Amino acid sequence: MAGRTAPPTAIESVLSETRLFRPPKAFASRARVPDLASYRKLYAASVRNPGAFWAKQAGALLWRGRWKKALTWDPPFAKWFVGGKLNASENCLDRHVATARRNKVAIRWEGEPGDQRNLTYEDLLRETCRFANVLRGLGVRAGDRVGIYLPMIPELPIAMLACARIGAVHSVVFGGFSAESLRDRMNDAQAKVLVTADGGWRRGKIVELKAAADAACAGATCVEKVLVVRRTGRDVPMTAGRDVAYEEAARGVPTRCEPEALDAEHPLYILYTSGTTGKPKGIVHTTAGYLLGATKTMEWVFDIRDEDVFWCTADIGWVTGHTYVVYGPLSVGATVVMYEGAPDAPEKDRFWDIVERHRVNIFYTAPTAIRTFVKWGKDYPARHDLSSLRLLGTVGEPINPEAWMWYHETIGGGRCPIVDTWWQTETGCILISPLPGATPTKPGSATLPLPGVVPEVVGDDGKPVPKGKGGRLVLRKPWPSMLRTIHGDPDRYVSQYWSSVPGSYFTGDGAHRDKDGYFWIMGRIDDVIKVAGHRLGTAEVESAIVSHPRVAESAVVARPDELTGSAIVAFVVLRGGGKGDNALEDEIKAHVARTIGPVARPAQVQFTELLPKTRSGKIMRRLLRDIASGAKQLGDMTTLEDVAVLERLRAEYGEE
Ligand code: PRX
Repeated sequence: MAGRTAPPTAIESVLSETRLFRPPKAFASRARVPDLASYRKLYAASVRNPGAFWAKQAGALLWRGRWKKALTWDPPFAKWFVGGKLNASENCLDRHVATARRNKVAIRWEGEPGDQRNLTYEDLLRETCRFANVLRGLGVRAGDRVGIYLPMIPELPIAMLACARIGAVHSVVFGGFSAESLRDRMNDAQAKVLVTADGGWRRGKIVELKAAADAACAGATCVEKVLVVRRTGRDVPMTAGRDVAYEEAARGVPTRCEPEALDAEHPLYILYTSGTTGKPKGIVHTTAGYLLGATKTMEWVFDIRDEDVFWCTADIGWVTGHTYVVYGPLSVGATVVMYEGAPDAPEKDRFWDIVERHRVNIFYTAPTAIRTFVKWGKDYPARHDLSSLRLLGTVGEPINPEAWMWYHETIGGGRCPIVDTWWQTETGCILISPLPGATPTKPGSATLPLPGVVPEVVGDDGKPVPKGKGGRLVLRKPWPSMLRTIHGDPDRYVSQYWSSVPGSYFTGDGAHRDKDGYFWIMGRIDDVIKVAGHRLGTAEVESAIVSHPRVAESAVVARPDELTGSAIVAFVVLRGGGKGDNALEDEIKAHVARTIGPVARPAQVQFTELLPKTRSGKIMRRLLRDIASGAKQLGDMTTLEDVAVLERLRAEYGEE
């Protein structure tokens, strides 16, 4: 799909942020990495001898069998800690239960209606074992795939850990995805069992997960059993012979289940994410490397303490929730807060209410959420005592310096460092981020690479560009928590990530480095759009749009949006030509929301008679992007087949 990618040479940075915030002394004096010199020493050691470095770090995990070699690199396929045996659920549970953490709260859960559950490490171990035994009873064995389509309730991490315990590979699908998206993922993963619920609460309404699961399973015959967890207590239709009520199945089941000693490279999970084609990619993460990345970043980036209450607000349906609600914090024995619902339910101060009542110390959220809080105003946080907070984080999209400053002052009271953490579904854990006790921060910059991470900004020729110049962000060396492949499609893994800059992993992001070596991520330069931090492929949205019976052709691009970072604009050519009206525009938007999920709903549908194309028939998205973002001057049009098309489109854009 290289032809659809914007030339990186066109990437120019317009940010010139000069504010610098040094780590507060009180924070630095207690931090694991207490100053920049210590960070640099750690980093230098990690790149000088990666094998020795990671061998030492691997001591952070509990092993059932010693591994032989830290890295086996058969480019671009990596294996870490080959020969080693371990179990991720044992790392997250048993090893804490064997210590004074046994009665420590692992999960402080709050439902949207206000109901609460606290699970200690011992509780979580017991429930995980019970769940694992139920899965086994349904015929699930090591290597089998299990789909999980649940609201943010404790059974979600329990189901994941239960899979990990018996070596089953979980594939969590975000509860906001449609039945069709769920079906495609279950089919691709060939899931044998699907775990869902009788619903979940969101803004006072029930999310109809079971109905979507039923519709998905009608087209996913691989799913033999559907395990239904009780959340709302409503009756939902159950299909005889296929559906199993979890509470009934769990009655009388033993609450002990030995963790299986699994190979370091045993797959832990598959998580689907959008790429440059219409088909989401199943990103495969394996056990040891992933868990090590999750564990070490909890220490390096969040400087986690035993007494901390840690809250990552991401849904577990995204990678951020996998790594920083489940595997990272539980592996280090932390207390996590988990919240089921929306930030404005019942009022716009719900997050700050949770921070105050649970005395949250570390708070990790997305820039879109922060911009929403800015819009709602300072009164909501002002109602609450936020003095428990000591560290703030952001993830998922670039943060604009104004939102950063608001976060720093209004939420952090000027005293909390902010870690702007760059990473991806594919990277498994944070790769570029300040270390809060060591790295001076600049609003809008993810700053410096973590130990073992070797990023670079390169031009079209794969060579580093001078400081200050924009280019492609690549990673030069393998790292333990990297994706191993795309499920069922190793060729796509090679072509997608390792071909455009030979020998390097291409992230799909544009970036530049400033004179201090700080990285400034400028956003996606491939055909992936980040809407409110959620990742969507333009091709995926286009294929949903053209599945509408009135649509002949469509091209989807992003335009900047104050709140969500980017918004989706769909240019649509109707069958038989002609212009659509407002009703059809709404219908197409709703059709996309139904087909993929509400996160993919276009902000704008622009009808057009024709799309601008090259002589060889390729849609020139670059020009459409210019139109959608209201650029005064359009880029190079030399390859455009019919200039008049573009002029008409530009004149009509935004007209009712
Ligand atoms: O474009 C980058 C953006 O999110 C992409 C990865 O998306 P996803 O796989 O959904 O994972 C999101 C959560 C890890 C990246 O390619 N991104 C992520 N973090 C940042 C970011 N952009 C700028 N700054 C960040 N801190």
